[in-house]
Amino acid sequence: MHGKIMGTGRCVPDKVVDNDYLSTVMDTSDEWISSRTGIRERRIATTESTVTMAAGAAENALLSAGLGIRDVDMILVATASPDNFVPGTACEVQAILNKEAEEVKTDPENPSGTYEACHAVCMDINAACSGFIYALSVANAFIQCGQYRNILVIGVETLSKIVDWSDRSTCVLFGDGAGAVVIGASEDGIFRHLLHTDGSMGHVLSCHCRDNNNPVVRNEVQTGYVQMDGQEVFKFAVKRVPECISELLEQNHIEKKDINYYLLHQANVKIIKSVAKRLGEEMEKFPVNLDKYGNTSAASIPILLDECNRSGMFKKGDKLVLSGFGGGLTWGAVLLEW
Ligand code: COA
Repeated sequence: MHGKIMGTGRCVPDKVVDNDYLSTVMDTSDEWISSRTGIRERRIATTESTVTMAAGAAENALLSAGLGIRDVDMILVATASPDNFVPGTACEVQAILNKEAEEVKTDPENPSGTYEACHAVCMDINAACSGFIYALSVANAFIQCGQYRNILVIGVETLSKIVDWSDRSTCVLFGDGAGAVVIGASEDGIFRHLLHTDGSMGHVLSCHCRDNNNPVVRNEVQTGYVQMDGQEVFKFAVKRVPECISELLEQNHIEKKDINYYLLHQANVKIIKSVAKRLGEEMEKFPVNLDKYGNTSAASIPILLDECNRSGMFKKGDKLVLSGFGGGLTWGAVLLEW
């Protein structure tokens, strides 16, 4: 038994912020941003929050899977930008979805509706931009060991609240949003995962805790903003991602020609092109939507997956590789059959 994607969903903020707008509020230009990254616009949360977007994406994924919240045994949320440290985002999503399901019970048009709360086990996973791949892998492991059957996996970020809007070299790269999948237990097809971490390189992409005025121990003041050595991150990604994908395929005796699509973390189109080249694969196999959303970290792969799924791109039996990379440093890949 292993995981299988039963449904997908997404929820992104309404507010679209394009590069031209950014060039009116900071010293940048559409030419600089789009030529170096491929990003043209991103969504920025105004009324939305990490929890509301996560719940919205989860509802859409459940609808697409034809399941209700009571069918879910576990909720995993990958995020580096939760609304609160405690409770975890996954717990809050469970509460929202339960409340909405309960309201159906009191709906006058559905007076006989019965309701029993979902008690799915909930936890958050922080592996930065690899978070969704890590969460999918945890879900797959729980299904493989036979403990759970249906797991909701959500990737969500409100990065606009943790980037430094006075640092043009980072803030223009990121965006907000959420994507989700329902993973069910299945004997069909393939679902394999491979994860890697190098904690010694954590400093190249970080976001420290904010100074909290602790009167007992005065810590060095921390900014609480995303800080990044862009060129080091670029070098790491273009080396580690193709290595990891090749390792996963070799482990499972699958050849690259048998892969229909590679869905990579959407950070920079130059990274995606470089990975495609190093794998010896055509860019046609690498769907891209970072021009519309920027880098949404843990949300980028499930948002892309949902867009591709809803556009009818995938056929039953297609083999997909999903791969994420980012802070930690973390990286990993999932091989699955649609
Ligand atoms: N607009 C205009 N100029 C900017 C700018 C902006 N938004 N941000 C930085 N610059 C300037 C810098 O001040 C610097 O100017 P200087 O040379 O006068 O000091 C110059 O542009 C740096 O440009 P360049 O050397 O061409 O940068 P780069 O090629 O390294 O590109 C990134 C920068 C961030 C786009 C690139 O390193 C990158 O994409 N790295 C990967 C980052 C990433 O994807 N992280 C997330 C992974 S999960």
